[in-house]
Amino acid sequence: MLRFDILTVFPEMFDSPLSSGVVGKALKNKIIDVQCLDLRRFASDQHKSVDDYPFGGGGGMILKPEPIFGAVDHLIQNSDLKPSDSIILLSPQGRKLDQKKAEDLAKHDRMVLICGRYDGVDERVVKHLVTEEVSIGDYVISGGELAAMVLIDALTRLQQNVLGSAESIEDDSHTSGLLQFPQYTRPSVFREWEVPEVLLSGNHEEIKNFRDAESIKRTLERRPDLLQGTDSN
Ligand code: ADE
Repeated sequence: MLRFDILTVFPEMFDSPLSSGVVGKALKNKIIDVQCLDLRRFASDQHKSVDDYPFGGGGGMILKPEPIFGAVDHLIQNSDLKPSDSIILLSPQGRKLDQKKAEDLAKHDRMVLICGRYDGVDERVVKHLVTEEVSIGDYVISGGELAAMVLIDALTRLQQNVLGSAESIEDDSHTSGLLQFPQYTRPSVFREWEVPEVLLSGNHEEIKNFRDAESIKRTLERRPDLLQGTDSN
C-alpha cells in the first residue's frame, strides 16, 4: 500500500481525479490511500489565514510556515508518519519529474505532498521540512494540486496489480528510454487508411522488430535528446 498525505488549501480539487480510472480503481482496491489535509485547519491565527505578504515586498502572497509545519506535526502524532518518510513540495523550482524518478518514488510506502499556491512557500518550509522539491515541467501552473495529481497517477500505475498486465508498463513511452511505437486497433482499414501489414501477420518476431524500429525512428524525430542522454535531467 502506498499512502499519500496531501497538504492543500483546495482539498476539493482532488475529489474527481481520484474517483475515476486507474487511480480510482487502485484506491478502491486499497493499493493506494490518499488523505487530504486542509491547511486552513492548521492556521494559527483567528482569521485562519494560510498566506501573507512577502517580506521585502513584491507581488503575490506566500504560504505561511505554521499551517504546513502544524499539518506535518499532526501526521506524526496521529498517523505514525516517520522521519524517514518523504515530504515532497510540488514546485516549479523542483527537480523535473521523469519516468526514472517516478519509478524510484513508486517504491516508497508513504509520502507527504505539499501543494504550493500563490507566489510560493516560505523558504523555512523548504529548508527545514521538505525532503525534496518536484516539478512536473518547465512551466508554471496555479498551484501544486494538479502537479500532485500527476505525481499520484504516475506512481499509482507503477504499483503491482494496478494495470492489466506488466506488458502495459513495459511498452509505455519512457519506460525503455524511447517513445512508444504507433498502435492500431480494429478496423484494419478505416477510411481507406490501412494498418501496417506486419501487425496483421501474426509473426511476433517481425512485429517486435517493426515496433522497435518505429520507436527509435519516432524518438529520433521528436525527442533526439532522449537518445543522446542530454535531456535536461
Ligand atoms: N506549481 C506550479 N507550477 C508547478 C510545476 N511546474 N510543477 C510542480 N508544481 C508546480
